[in-house]
Amino acid sequence: MEERIAELLNEVNAFSAKSREEIEFFRIKFLSKKGIVPALFSEFKSIPSEKKKLVGQQVNRLKNRIHEKIEESLAALKEHTEETSLTDFSLPADPVGLGARHPVSIIRNEIIEIFTRLGFTVSEGPEIEDDDHVFSKLNFPPNHPARDMQDTFFIEKGEDETGKIRDVLLRTHTSPVQVRVMENQQPPIRTISPGRVFRNEAISARSHCIFHQVEGLYIDENVSFADLKQTLLYFAKEMFGKKTSIRLRPSFFPFTEPSAEMDISCSCDGKGCNLCKYSGWLEILGCGMVDPNVLDFTGIDSHLYTGFAFGMGIERIALLKYQIKDIRLLFENDIRFLRQFKSAF
Ligand code: DAH
Repeated sequence: MEERIAELLNEVNAFSAKSREEIEFFRIKFLSKKGIVPALFSEFKSIPSEKKKLVGQQVNRLKNRIHEKIEESLAALKEHTEETSLTDFSLPADPVGLGARHPVSIIRNEIIEIFTRLGFTVSEGPEIEDDDHVFSKLNFPPNHPARDMQDTFFIEKGEDETGKIRDVLLRTHTSPVQVRVMENQQPPIRTISPGRVFRNEAISARSHCIFHQVEGLYIDENVSFADLKQTLLYFAKEMFGKKTSIRLRPSFFPFTEPSAEMDISCSCDGKGCNLCKYSGWLEILGCGMVDPNVLDFTGIDSHLYTGFAFGMGIERIALLKYQIKDIRLLFENDIRFLRQFKSAF
């Protein structure tokens, strides 16, 4: 019996558990009613009395050791599970995903930056406009096609008691902001007005019914066409690179006289490519000297002051600068497309 007890003691000492169930099996095996320890006690009755004291001590030692082992095993298990459930603070943190600015915002900011360097301020006007600011005060004749439902989103069409047109509409360009600035300020005026515009046009790879423009306005004494040219040349070189040259072609806008359209030299260096359709030039904006009628309509003395204005589409510049083939990509918010602009500011 003494040998058996020694073996059992070895077994108990060697026991280790990975789970609560294993500890419970261990307990049942040794301590339950039909377990090993009660069996030893009943065996104990039949051993010779001179050995009783020694064997009794051995069985008690075994029993105590089993209790200790169960306590130790439970404690070890608890420590182990607590350890693994704790956060490991030495692990590197999950990276915080950096967003990218939208290409339209990037170009808009760049345009603002270039013109503010020349002393231009930034002004804004409402997207929901009236016919006075969008057309009449910009010298559009009453029957101009832009006033047609085909081209403009009207919110309300109407006339006042005197028969004057009182339409409420979504602005089709940012030029009404120059009207608002001129109505509220006297020269010298030097401002650019970025904003969203709306046109009743079919959506295609080249045009959209919502897009962005930046309007520019400079009014002071003795402002000349040469000032306009120099300002736009500076802008083109800053925006598209120092090697860029510009070309002005005569054009027509109701609110400028004379009017011009400006092209920039294509990056193919006149060799001809798909982008410039083998012409070597890319059209980017409309401009001209503010028509004296517009100055008079807005309360600025056209005998004292002259000025120039220009307007450009932000999307158009983004398409050219980033060589994007389809304007719709700028409105779809496809993360795979937008992600590519992470490195731009
Ligand atoms: N408003 C014109 C458009 O939407 C762009 C424009 C042309 C603005 C000439 C101007 C300008 O200020 O002088 O097409």
